[in-house]
Amino acid sequence: MPTHSASIPAPSLAPVLTIDDLSIEFPAYRSTVKALNGVSLHVNPGEIVGVIGESGSGKSVTAMLSLRLLPERSYRVTAGSLNILGRDMLAAQEKELLKVRGRDVAMIFQEPMTALNPTRRIGRQMTDVIIHHQRLSKDQARSKAIALLRDMHIADPEQVLESFPFELSGGMRQRVMIALAFSCDPQLLIADEPTTALDVTVQRQVLLLLREKARERGTAILLITHDMALVSQFCDRVYVMYTGAVVEQGDTAQVMADPRHPYTKGLLSGLPEQVRPGEALMTIPGQVPNLSALPDGCTFRDRCAFAMPKCLERPPLLAIDAAGVRKSACWLNAAEQAS
Ligand SMILES: Nc1ncnc2c1ncn2[C@@H]1O[C@H](COP(=O)(O)OP(=O)(O)OP(=O)(O)O)[C@@H](O)[C@H]1O
Ligand SMILES: [Mg+2]
Repeated sequence: MPTHSASIPAPSLAPVLTIDDLSIEFPAYRSTVKALNGVSLHVNPGEIVGVIGESGSGKSVTAMLSLRLLPERSYRVTAGSLNILGRDMLAAQEKELLKVRGRDVAMIFQEPMTALNPTRRIGRQMTDVIIHHQRLSKDQARSKAIALLRDMHIADPEQVLESFPFELSGGMRQRVMIALAFSCDPQLLIADEPTTALDVTVQRQVLLLLREKARERGTAILLITHDMALVSQFCDRVYVMYTGAVVEQGDTAQVMADPRHPYTKGLLSGLPEQVRPGEALMTIPGQVPNLSALPDGCTFRDRCAFAMPKCLERPPLLAIDAAGVRKSACWLNAAEQAS
């Protein structure tokens, strides 16, 4: 093994999640769905990172695979690695995975109704989770559940604990899920479209709460969404995904102000504030290519207004700033990238 310098780097500086050049496919009867095609991304401690892209771009597959939540025999990893807090997640055994899930990393999904058991009161469900991860008595777990709910700005936690999931509003259910997610003080929280089922006002409140609590505790968040407005309001950095690969990345403010990939420009042009009164909201013309028959070269070229012969070759994701924070996978930036 190579020997590194004697001083051990502060653990808080290493990313909590690192995905490197990851490719996976779902074998089917007559074809193979190439869902991830060389995804690389990382989340630093305490950072709020967005992943955005149209439906089918591989956002949820990335999130689920991070915790090895995809059905084990349904997919094949064809390249790359996935590491959480120094653990090789692709090689980890079930016992290790159980430790990571819920303790080091928590996950929040779009519809908490599916994550909560409809037949059991919130209180039982919360204390079960708390006791599962921490050595507490029932009474201590209940007190902890009350404190957690109060911390989520829930005015009457006792009442919520007595309720069944269907008796709560969607926003309240999601607050319960956030309280549960934070109950074990995870270092990373993966939120896959956590507010898509909620109306716009509640959506904002829930995300503000999520961010406030994450900042207080130093928890990192990977926020998956198809909504660029949410990314701009909540994320420090953003990855833009298309056909299972990252096509652009950078600090959110910079990507919003100066998108470098035509796909990102297309996503941004759909934002209401980019549209003048009387103009229709623009969507990106054309369709996401079939992941079972991806074209060689740039997979966006058939939809791209700037396509050129060079786009028959796949553009690499290269840095467009000195720090290497901003990257884009487009031949339009190649001159800059080369210099
Ligand atoms: N178990 C599976 N078997 C076969 N294909 C799958 C499976 N899970 C996901 N896929 C395919 O992988 C691709 C990526 O799916 P994914 O759910 O990650 O997209 P997404 O970016 O989350 O989209 P959305 O915005 O609709 O949630 C899709 O084409 C999907 O059909
Ligand atoms: Mg999804």
